[in-house]
Amino acid sequence: MEIVVSGTRPTGVLHLGNYFGAVRNYVRMSEDPNYTCYFFIADYHSLTTHHQPAELTKLVKQTIATYLACGLDPKKVVIYIQSHLPQIPELYLLLNMLAYKGELEKVATFKEKIKMHSENINAGLMTYPVLMASDIIIHRAHKVPVGKDQEQHLEMTRNFAKRFNSRYDVDFFPEPVAYNFGSELIKVPGLDGSLKMSKSGAANNAVYLDDGDDEIRRKVMKAKTDGGPTEPNQVKPQEIKNIFELMDIVSAPDTIRHFNDAYNNCNIRYGDMKKQLAEDMIKCIAPFRQKINELLVNEDYLHKVVRKGGEAARESADKTISGVKKIMGLNYF
Ligand code: TRP
Repeated sequence: MEIVVSGTRPTGVLHLGNYFGAVRNYVRMSEDPNYTCYFFIADYHSLTTHHQPAELTKLVKQTIATYLACGLDPKKVVIYIQSHLPQIPELYLLLNMLAYKGELEKVATFKEKIKMHSENINAGLMTYPVLMASDIIIHRAHKVPVGKDQEQHLEMTRNFAKRFNSRYDVDFFPEPVAYNFGSELIKVPGLDGSLKMSKSGAANNAVYLDDGDDEIRRKVMKAKTDGGPTEPNQVKPQEIKNIFELMDIVSAPDTIRHFNDAYNNCNIRYGDMKKQLAEDMIKCIAPFRQKINELLVNEDYLHKVVRKGGEAARESADKTISGVKKIMGLNYF
């Protein structure tokens, strides 16, 4: 049995790109009987850059509701909130003794963040990778499904795990690897002509899993297009390719073929294509929205999920911490 751990910062309701690019694969992993999966909300990590209490509470609830709506089943996966595991900061403190200032200062995400938040370069920001390593090795994980941008953090996690093992001459922590699904990942482009749907793009760039029907129509109708093809079988410019790629994700093959033929014959009407895309996207999003909204008003259920998940996660974390303390000589009586 392999242990899988992944965390997500509480960013609220996700967009289509998050779903097709990542969450759908977490769900697939969670359904694989070879894995025991732990998925959590990294609320401590968000404190390295944000500090609005009311906002944090709302975002954490929205994030949990979204993951459940996407199909993560609390019966199959341990779903919990990072700050519900006191063992994580405990391990973080111990790992901090193994983490060197020099290696932490070299981390790309740290360098980016000190540029973005030059007024708030705190120790938590610098030790972000140590906390992340604690999240992962607290369950002695083997695989960590994350995006490419997290590879360096995983490398550091392996370094801390190896350093612990070699300093105490034990074989206690496995060396966890980033697992990013390779070619199974679907790239979801933005509606503003950008290569990737993202939260930080133009206002209409991303379609969220809880967007209303009219909101979706409005965003899709504003999607960037060009003057149309002037010769048969012309190569599609990026923004048009994006609209076709979005159709690939949400529309029926016949529909896609119809518009592709129209493009190649130079009689495509982008207005019609976008209307169709909007309706197909609505069909894809509506069940998510309904589920998210149902879950958000059912606080008791959300609470029950993370309470139960927290219990199971603490049980696993306790075993690790006891092992670590024993190895380090912190078991006196
Ligand atoms: N750093 C990750 C991100 O920004 C979130 C995260 C925190 C994480 N702890 C983790 C991911 C542990 C995987 C495992 O996306």
